[in-house]
Amino acid sequence: MKTKYKRQYNAVITGTGMYVPEKILDNKYFESIVDTTDEWIKTRTGIEERRILENGATSDMATKAVEDLLQNTGTNPEDIDAIIVATVTPDMFFPATACLVQDNIGAKKAWGFDLSAACSGFLYALQTGAGLIEGGQFKKVVVVGADKMSSIVDYTDRKTCIIFGDGAAAVLLEPSEDLSYGIHDSILVCDGSGRDKLFMEGGGSLNPPSHETVDKRMHYLFQDGKAVFKVAVQQMADVSAEILEKNGLTGDDIAYLVPHQANLRIIDATARRMGISSDKVMINIQKYGNTTAATIPLCLAEYHKDGKLKKGDKLVLAAFGGGYTFGSMLLTWGID
Ligand code: UT7
Repeated sequence: MKTKYKRQYNAVITGTGMYVPEKILDNKYFESIVDTTDEWIKTRTGIEERRILENGATSDMATKAVEDLLQNTGTNPEDIDAIIVATVTPDMFFPATACLVQDNIGAKKAWGFDLSAACSGFLYALQTGAGLIEGGQFKKVVVVGADKMSSIVDYTDRKTCIIFGDGAAAVLLEPSEDLSYGIHDSILVCDGSGRDKLFMEGGGSLNPPSHETVDKRMHYLFQDGKAVFKVAVQQMADVSAEILEKNGLTGDDIAYLVPHQANLRIIDATARRMGISSDKVMINIQKYGNTTAATIPLCLAEYHKDGKLKKGDKLVLAAFGGGYTFGSMLLTWGID
């Protein structure tokens, strides 16, 4: 007989934390290094500024974001069970960035790992963390989205350098027996047919580092912007509308859409498709650009800090990124 699985716990976000570096690169700066204009960047992407980490690595930003989270929630690092870091710019291939964060914050009892899903990394990691909580074995899971995109961006390529920025943000997941709060559902997809549209081909086992890979600029991110745009605008909207339908909801039931911040035009198309007005869309792309795995948690952390979220708010998180990877998630905010 088929038994329907009934969850005993939901994973609830019980705190947020964030870190963005101090150094700001505005659009005017890009006018001085590539053939572009402030006007082009603003109208084609919505970006006005992005943050750049001058010294240090992804783990340094992730550590600061988690320290902010620990302070905001009054959490003892020794009570953390697991740390998941979503990133495509780990400090090194190994050890995992999560290990470095674990050591930096003194989370002596935690295990952890990195998760690579590009701009969908935080969504994938949040679902993974939720699974750990729902299983009942782990009580405090920290999920981080962190990327130092400036370490893989080619600042001679006007098509990509204007888009990306650096940043990190984190959430704490804990169990709730009240299933009306927390993560209810997600739709997560990966489609490797997009492998040649957004990637970094140098440095891995396919193209180990060599003079040739450096000469061919293979250690930089490559994006076929137009191709990615077309798929992103369709898939992010589809999957966001689908999660509403699947759960018998409409845009009116949603307090906020929390989209990956890649391009304001993609975000607008997604909101329109869901029937969500622009005042219910979390936006900070103008300040930070595309911080890859950090965009969604940075939105959550900022809106939370500014008191714009209230307990019971229904949120839809949505992302699209390299892989291709994409997805949406439905959750109810559980913090007073
Ligand atoms: O985050 C993960 C997933 N990534 C995304 O979702 C990003 C998806 N793609 C995009 O957001 C957009 O495609 C871009 C912002 C990357 C580019 O915008 P676009 O409107 O799609 O521009 P395009 O690539 O179609 O290029 C249009 C024109 C081209 O000139 P020609 O060939 O028509 O003469 C480009 O060379 O704009 C030119 N162009 C620029 N002009 C001034 C490209 N980049 C720039 C620039 N400044 N920075």
